[in-house]
Amino acid sequence: MTAIRQLNAPCTQLEQIHSRCFDYGWSAGVFADLLIKPHHRTYVFEADGDVVSFVVMAVVEGEGEILTIATDPSYQHKGLARMLMVQVIAALRAEGAESLFLECATDNAYALRLYESCGFKRAGRRKAYYSRKEGEPVDAHILRLALH
Ligand SMILES: CC(C)(COP(=O)(O)OP(=O)(O)OC[C@H]1O[C@@H](n2cnc3c(N)ncnc32)[C@H](O)[C@@H]1OP(=O)(O)O)[C@@H](O)C(=O)NCCC(=O)NCCS
Repeated sequence: MTAIRQLNAPCTQLEQIHSRCFDYGWSAGVFADLLIKPHHRTYVFEADGDVVSFVVMAVVEGEGEILTIATDPSYQHKGLARMLMVQVIAALRAEGAESLFLECATDNAYALRLYESCGFKRAGRRKAYYSRKEGEPVDAHILRLALH
């Protein structure tokens, strides 16, 4: 069985998936902090009771920001992140939010394809924004989706 739900309790699968997906994964403490912060929410996609994909976002005064999104490598390219994005965008529209922002490494072709197919447009660039374990830091695109 699969389902998307908003998370309201700590979940170890978040840091496990994050560390499999990024050079510098976030710790359990970072996820726990985000969970209790007002204006922050985490949506998870579960398969048979296990979190396999998730998105963390903030919403302040009508402006949403995706802080991170990741799908466990063994579940990637099955449409899960797209379903989470559809959920986030629908929730923000229903609340009357104006826009949704995120940052994405300029070399992250899969993520850029996902965001641009959701309607995000490039709104700026941050130089050397992401450190890498190997190689030079990578720039970030700032992407914005107008919700109205
Ligand atoms: C980016 C990421 C979240 C996408 O998650 P996902 O659940 O695999 O994404 P989906 O299956 O919903 O695919 C959405 C779109 O992304 C692109 N995409 C994702 N994986 C792809 C792959 N292996 N090959 C080609 N395109 C891919 C496609 O455009 C796809 O849409 P399509 O299938 O209609 O062509 C996932 O690759 C991931 O966790 N990457 C590591 C963490 C990361 O980079 N997060 C984003 C930081 S900005």
